Amino acid sequence: MEQNTLEISHLTVSFPTDRGGFRPVNDVSLTVRKGQIVGLVGESGCGKSMTARAVMGLIRSPGKVTGGQILLEGKDLLALNGKEMRSLRGNELAMVFQDPMTSLNPVVPVGKQVEEAILLHRRVSREEARKRTLEAFRNVGISEAEKRSRSYPHELSGGLRQRVMIAMAMVCCPRLLIADEPTTALDVIMEAQILQLMRQMRDRGTSILFISHNLGVIAQLCDYTCVMYAGRIAEQGDTRELFERPVHPYTRGLLGAVSSLDRKGEELETIRGSVPAPGSLPAGCPFGPRCGLCDETCRGACPEPREISPGHIVRCFHAGEVPV
Ligand SMILES: Nc1ncnc2c1ncn2[C@@H]1O[C@H](COP(=O)(O)OP(=O)(O)OP(=O)(O)O)[C@@H](O)[C@H]1O
Ligand code: SF4
Ligand SMILES: [Mg+2]
Repeated sequence: MEQNTLEISHLTVSFPTDRGGFRPVNDVSLTVRKGQIVGLVGESGCGKSMTARAVMGLIRSPGKVTGGQILLEGKDLLALNGKEMRSLRGNELAMVFQDPMTSLNPVVPVGKQVEEAILLHRRVSREEARKRTLEAFRNVGISEAEKRSRSYPHELSGGLRQRVMIAMAMVCCPRLLIADEPTTALDVIMEAQILQLMRQMRDRGTSILFISHNLGVIAQLCDYTCVMYAGRIAEQGDTRELFERPVHPYTRGLLGAVSSLDRKGEELETIRGSVPAPGSLPAGCPFGPRCGLCDETCRGACPEPREISPGHIVRCFHAGEVPV
C-alpha cells in the first residue's frame, strides 16, 4: 500500500487558562495521501493555523501539543528534537504562512532569503542557488525577477510577498507543503495563478494541506476536505462527496445546503450565532447552540467521529437529518 504523506491522529493542542485550559485543536485526525491536496476549512478561530503550526513544530509557549501523533511519511514528528525538526522544515516540510511578513526577514533582500534556504538544505554553490532562486521567482510569476530579488519584504506588495514565500517553499520540493490561506491577500487573477502553482507542485510530487475559509477555492483545488469547527473536525470526506452530500449541520450551513437540497425555493440559510469564544465551549456538542437539530443527547455529550461511508467521517448524533 502506498504510504501516506501526513497522518495526524487525535492531535490535541492546549493552552493553560485560569479555568483549566482551552484546546484550540481537539482530537483532530486527518490524512494527506501522497499526491493529494487536502483542504482544511472553517470559520475564523476554529484552529486551522494552530493545526498547521503543530505539524511544523511551531506552537508557541505556553501552548503545547498535549496529545496525539503526527507522522510524516511514517516519521513521528512529535518525537523529534528542535534540531531535527529544523532540518525537516524547508526541506521535507514547508509552510506558506498566513501573514508572510511575520516569516520573512525584514532586513534581508528576498532573493537572498530564498538562496540561503537553498544553501541550508542542498549542497550547491551560491551561484547555483542564485540561479535556482531566479528560476523559482519566474515560475511563481514574479516579473523582473532579478530586480525584485534585491527588494526587501516591505518594498513588495502582499501578493508578491506571498509569491516569494511560495517560491521559497517550492525550491526544495518538500514532501508536504502546508499553505495557510495563501490567496487571501490576492485578487482573483493572482488567486487563480497560485492555485495553478499548487496543482503543479502536487504533480511534481508534493502533497499539500491547503487551509482556507473559502469553500469555492477548496472545491476547485482539493481532493479531500476537512471541515473544522471549534477545534474539532466536524466532517471530512472526498471533496465531491462532501459538497454533494454534506451531512453535518455545520457543513450544510456553510454550503447553504439545507436550503438547496431539502427546502427548494426557500431563502438560503445562514448559520445563526457565532463561534464560541475560546475556553467557553458549551457542554456536549460544540455546535449545539447554533444547531437546529440540537437535543438532549447533543447537550449531554460530544459526538465521536463516525465513518458513514468510505472516507466520509462525521461528528454528529443526527448526521443527515433535516431540521423540523
Ligand atoms: N498565541 C495564542 N495564544 C492563545 N490562544 C491563541 C493563540 N493564537 C491563537 N489562539 C486561539 O486559538 C484558536 C485557534 O486559532 P487559529 O489561529 O488556529 O484559528 P484559524 O482557524 O487559523 O483562524 P483564521 O481563519 O482567523 O486564521 C482561536 O480561538 C485563537 O483565538
Ligand atoms: S451533534 Fe447535535 S448539536 Fe451537534 S451538530 Fe449534530 S445535531 Fe447539531
Ligand atoms: Mg489562521
